[in-house]
Amino acid sequence: MKKQSVFIETYGCQMNEYDSDRIINALQAEPVDSPNTADVIIINTCAIREKADHKAVSAVGRYNKLKKNNPNLIIGMSGCVAQLYGKKLLKDMPYLDFVMGPRGIPKIPKIIDDIRSEHKQRPLETSMDVQDIFDVTPYHKKGKISGFVSIQQGCNKKCAYCIVPTTRGSEINRPLDEIIFESQELVKQGAKELTYIGQTVNSWKHSKMRFNNLLDHLQEINGLERIRFTTSFPKDISDKMISSMKNNNKVCRQLHLPVQSGSNRVLREMRRTYSIEWYKDRIQKLKDAIPDLALSTDIIVGFGSEKEDDFESTMNLIREIEFDTVYSFKYSVRPGTPGENMESHVPDEIASEWLSVLQAEQKEITLKKNIEKIGSNFNVLLEGFSKQNNKDLFGRTTHNKVVNVKNVDQSFIGKTVRVKITNAMQNSLVGEII
Ligand code: SAH
Ligand code: F3S
Repeated sequence: MKKQSVFIETYGCQMNEYDSDRIINALQAEPVDSPNTADVIIINTCAIREKADHKAVSAVGRYNKLKKNNPNLIIGMSGCVAQLYGKKLLKDMPYLDFVMGPRGIPKIPKIIDDIRSEHKQRPLETSMDVQDIFDVTPYHKKGKISGFVSIQQGCNKKCAYCIVPTTRGSEINRPLDEIIFESQELVKQGAKELTYIGQTVNSWKHSKMRFNNLLDHLQEINGLERIRFTTSFPKDISDKMISSMKNNNKVCRQLHLPVQSGSNRVLREMRRTYSIEWYKDRIQKLKDAIPDLALSTDIIVGFGSEKEDDFESTMNLIREIEFDTVYSFKYSVRPGTPGENMESHVPDEIASEWLSVLQAEQKEITLKKNIEKIGSNFNVLLEGFSKQNNKDLFGRTTHNKVVNVKNVDQSFIGKTVRVKITNAMQNSLVGEII
């Protein structure tokens, strides 16, 4: 039988990218690059901010037109918006054939069968009570150098602004043997670098094992050259985790550690469970152990009763730490979160102003840090053709900096080469093999 062709439009985080691959694999489908030739179109949505969920709904409307020429086309919505609004989506969009939350992925073959059956159902799959959540192994493009492995679903923290615990449910940690098995499979298919993902990845625990033990086990996987993980939660950075990172020669010298705000008052309002002193102490311990560790963070401006001096504390923090990258957002109220019922939030014009001040200053810090790399040598794992032209290759350093490498043959894809940095841009470096 001919494989059905599936077009997936993916919004949001790495977990969604991973989930899109799992959908393809669960359906044993042929992924296609164009919606025009697809048998099934799935919009895998993100609900983290209001803008993201509007985008998802308008995407569904756009694909509806294709049903005119192809009445058998199935259009479905998956991901966090699907989970959040469930039934309402089916009601508001008669041309939408199914709605499936993140925990419904193992059921996708049945969902499609039900639609194609005589009864032409419009399935709604948003149950949180799913045991076999990790059951589907991801689809990995053969020869792809980097891949993702999920080690955790959901989140047990209760940050006041965040929709994730609602849409992805409470934390479920994946057993070690499944994580190792999937890693080995991806390595067999050509992966050299794996990023282990979870909402608070370093809170992973399973049968008396903690995240530091997991890192120790991952180091033993033959053929796996680089280990990354994201996203870490500051309160769960233990001393053991730091020493395990330091002693692990596969763990990359890079950490994404969302701080959200530089003000203790705002952090309390956000229910982040750590103080800025704790955060800085963890950074200090990490830098003592791994002096060249590259750091990135997330920041929300305009949450709750944030005042000018709270925002100033955030600015002082980014000046002091000099993160390599900062992902910054204006607070967006999400339905059903504690933030929705809080009395005050910062007016939009002020939040926008703060956001642009922060982004402008961080841009300079990032560029300065990139320029400092000129003249230095780094190991770069080459991943593919450069996005800028098809002559150069690109890869990344252990610090997760993208480097475009000049004059190198494509047979080097998948190899780690020593590169001298010759130029620096805002978001990438340029170098030559030495
Ligand atoms: N632990 C998760 C966090 C997911 S959300 C992870 O895997 O990264 C990613 C970032 O979006 C958060 O760190 C936060 O900075 C931002 N964010 C979350 N909810 C938000 C909201 N309601 N408004 C604006 N930004 C938000
Ligand atoms: Fe959201 Fe906080 Fe969890 S940001 S994903 S509730 S750690």
